[in-house]
Amino acid sequence: MPDQVRHDELGLFIKPSNLTFPPIYKIFLAFGIKIIYIFGEKFPLKEVEMKALVAYYSDTGNTEKLARSIYEGIEQAEKEILHIKEVKDVEDSDIIFCGFPVQAHSVPGKVEGFIKSIPEGKKLAFFATHGSLRGGQLAIQAFYYATSLRSKGTVLGTFGCRGKVKSSIIDALMKKAEHRSWAIEAQGARGHPNESDFEDAKEWAKEMIAKARAS
Ligand SMILES: Cc1cc2nc3c(=O)[nH]c(=O)nc-3n(C[C@H](O)[C@H](O)[C@H](O)COP(=O)(O)O)c2cc1C
Repeated sequence: MPDQVRHDELGLFIKPSNLTFPPIYKIFLAFGIKIIYIFGEKFPLKEVEMKALVAYYSDTGNTEKLARSIYEGIEQAEKEILHIKEVKDVEDSDIIFCGFPVQAHSVPGKVEGFIKSIPEGKKLAFFATHGSLRGGQLAIQAFYYATSLRSKGTVLGTFGCRGKVKSSIIDALMKKAEHRSWAIEAQGARGHPNESDFEDAKEWAKEMIAKARAS
């Protein structure tokens, strides 16, 4: 009769006499896990500190201002900011933010020398200020050149924004027909870098740090 079948015969009911003590290794294992758990909570493992260097070159102060906001934007990393002429050693740095003003559609000579002196394999992020339009061909050309000085895959990203051009330069270029259109474009850089540029730069810096951690 089906209703006479006992629960234990179906495997649903365990009689106390059937209970066996777990083997000793299981007890040790359980204790071990518990101890690791308690220690883990009390002494959480610190994320390995990343070292970031912001190295810049600046003639009239625009790139220096941008460098300072990039420095501010770097979080959860040991950080240092230096003019490139003050940089002695980059060996300790995990990521180097290298900034320059675009000059003659390219990288100023002193910065080129600095970029070339950085040991291969170091992670780099380039930033620049320029008189021409943001995202324009002239600025992009300079970033291409800077990136071409490094081995493949070590440049994590680039950031550019406009920077006020010295009035003496604009005046001189205005007098030359072949440069007039660029001089007019460069006038539009007045007031830059501004607060909005600084905010964008801070966000970019955070993105680069995250990228450096992931790579
Ligand atoms: C000699 C010289 C050449 C420049 N050439 C360019 C250029 O080719 N393209 C450009 O977009 N801006 C050019 N600029 C404008 C600067 O890149 C811009 O003003 C920059 O923000 C200056 O940065 P700094 O104040 O850090 O020196 C030039 C400026 C100077 C003084």
